[in-house]
Amino acid sequence: MNILPELKDRFRTALETQSTDSLDLDSLLEMIRPAQNAQFGDYQANMAMPLGKKTGQAPREVADKIVASLAVDDLCHPPTVAGPGFINLKLNDEWITAKLESARHDDRLGVTATANPQTFIVDYSSPNVAKPLHVGHVRSTVIGDALCRILRFCGHKVTSDNHLGDWGTQFGMIIYGYQHFVDAVAYQEKPIDELGRIYKFVRKLMDYHSGKASIPSRETAIAELKQQVSTAEAAAADPDAKAEKKRQKALKKSKAELQSAERGLAKMLESHQEQESDEALAKLLPLHTDINNAVLVETVKLHQGDKYNLKLWEEFLPKCRDAIEEIYKRLDIKFDEELGESFYHDRLADVVADLKEKGLAKESEGAMCVFLDGFDAPFLVQKKDGAYLYATTDLATIKYRIETWNPDAVLYVVDFRQSEHFDKLFATAEKWGCGRSQGIALEHVKFGTVLGEDGKPYKTRSGDTVGLEGLLDEAESRAYDVVAANDEAKPQGWELDEPSRRHIARVVGIAALKYADLSQNRESDYVFSYDKMLALTGNTATYMQYSYARVFGIFAKGDVDATSIRNSDAKIRLDEPAERQLGLKLLQFGDALNEVLVDYRPNQLTNYLFELAKSFSAFFEQCPVLKAEEEATKNSRLLLCDLTARTLKQGLALLGIDVVQKM
Ligand code: ARG
Repeated sequence: MNILPELKDRFRTALETQSTDSLDLDSLLEMIRPAQNAQFGDYQANMAMPLGKKTGQAPREVADKIVASLAVDDLCHPPTVAGPGFINLKLNDEWITAKLESARHDDRLGVTATANPQTFIVDYSSPNVAKPLHVGHVRSTVIGDALCRILRFCGHKVTSDNHLGDWGTQFGMIIYGYQHFVDAVAYQEKPIDELGRIYKFVRKLMDYHSGKASIPSRETAIAELKQQVSTAEAAAADPDAKAEKKRQKALKKSKAELQSAERGLAKMLESHQEQESDEALAKLLPLHTDINNAVLVETVKLHQGDKYNLKLWEEFLPKCRDAIEEIYKRLDIKFDEELGESFYHDRLADVVADLKEKGLAKESEGAMCVFLDGFDAPFLVQKKDGAYLYATTDLATIKYRIETWNPDAVLYVVDFRQSEHFDKLFATAEKWGCGRSQGIALEHVKFGTVLGEDGKPYKTRSGDTVGLEGLLDEAESRAYDVVAANDEAKPQGWELDEPSRRHIARVVGIAALKYADLSQNRESDYVFSYDKMLALTGNTATYMQYSYARVFGIFAKGDVDATSIRNSDAKIRLDEPAERQLGLKLLQFGDALNEVLVDYRPNQLTNYLFELAKSFSAFFEQCPVLKAEEEATKNSRLLLCDLTARTLKQGLALLGIDVVQKM
């Protein structure tokens, strides 16, 4: 039982007797929402306003008419109309109680599965495996994982697929690096660390040389901007005020561009100087001036089946994957499929041939391109030198997924910076016959950047990206401090032994990291802060876990067994406002999950859990449980505690987060 769909059904029937004209019934039904202010009831329906406007009637009259034909006696008090035409609904306590009673005996806590199950492919995590994972990979991984769990719980069919970058330029980089810079002993001992080091080192050399090569064009650009600025400055003021304003604006813009170009160049030269003053590095720099090209050559050789490069690739790949697997294990992430880019390699030629045959891809300056309306540049599917691209692989992947799983929707949980790629990919797929109008909803579930507390992309002090492994270690170690401090501050003295503290710290640390990410609106950037994510109050996993453990504290103190009270003939009663408020919140779990799936935002669920935890806290303060005056009240409250704990646990589990009974 989910409340909103139930209310919508009732309103649908009522509205069908009204003339809703050309207005879309579904969007009218969207206007039934939980009330912002409890004083107006539990839910509010606001469709009388647009309906009145459309049909030229007074909204209040429209509202009265809707109410007159609304059959909700069994679940609500008689609806009231307020203000310009708001319909206020207050649920019956008997109805809430009855629903709580059935949730109490239901493993799904009363949440109904969808009547319309769909098949989803969720493409997430998908790191490039030759380089160490960093903080950005957390986002795709935890958001994708949460979406898979929620979709499944809601009754959909889901295939999760880790589209590993296991075939791209990064392999050209480590192949080149291995040939020139490997420390054989280190590789023998810790191959993954050594490959990571090699990757970073090659990246450095590549950046240095491409930076060097860009100096002349940067200087030309700066000279042009200077010219532009001085010409603009020399020009007389425009007598037309509007034109003058525009001119000033353009001048300001050129100045800003000049400044940023100059700064960029200076910064680069400074880092070059730093690198050149490193003796070991300085010796190598002139020996690898062609490194950018050489890396491409190694990549092409790999793709063309060069024996030596393939052998290296086969040697490196399992090592890289093991390293990533370690992280997934710590994060409790599993995939149904891990079909990386290399899996599609021998399908790429057919993709291009097919696009060509259907007249979708055309040759342009030697390359194969799909020209799309509404985009400046075409979608490149084969380069002049014959090489295929990220785009080609993604097209082959769409085709394969359709043939294999026949999905209704494919979700790509990927950084917003790839928006243009996905816009073009989806537009091409549409033309190719595998897009939305063919019944396959391709969706870029995009997310923003992880920032440091300085508001810039999160980096280590030395300017490196932050490795994921270190991040998890740090989260766990800080969680340990929080857990230990909390334990030591207990009024009756500490109660957790060392192994328990360690275990709890692991659960709490990983949870904090995941929750901090999931509780953000995924499209915004978010500021990474260990202190905030581990705070014991506020919208954090730690607070949710603490609320969960609190219930167990009550049970332990009263020597209550949760299962026996659940199966006893005690009844739930909602006498106090805080009890009713908590009961209602508990019933809104299913609605929160539906809300997540509207546009794939796990923060709808974290918001719900936070509200639930707050309702529980208010209940806990206002309604003594073990010290309740009557046995029946005590049992009813224990039942509410039990339902709260189970809902918190289930909700967190759907976010990939575990709980502990003691903290
Ligand atoms: N490997 C890519 C990267 O790290 C992400 C892949 C996302 N999935 C996809 N089907 N393109 O940027």
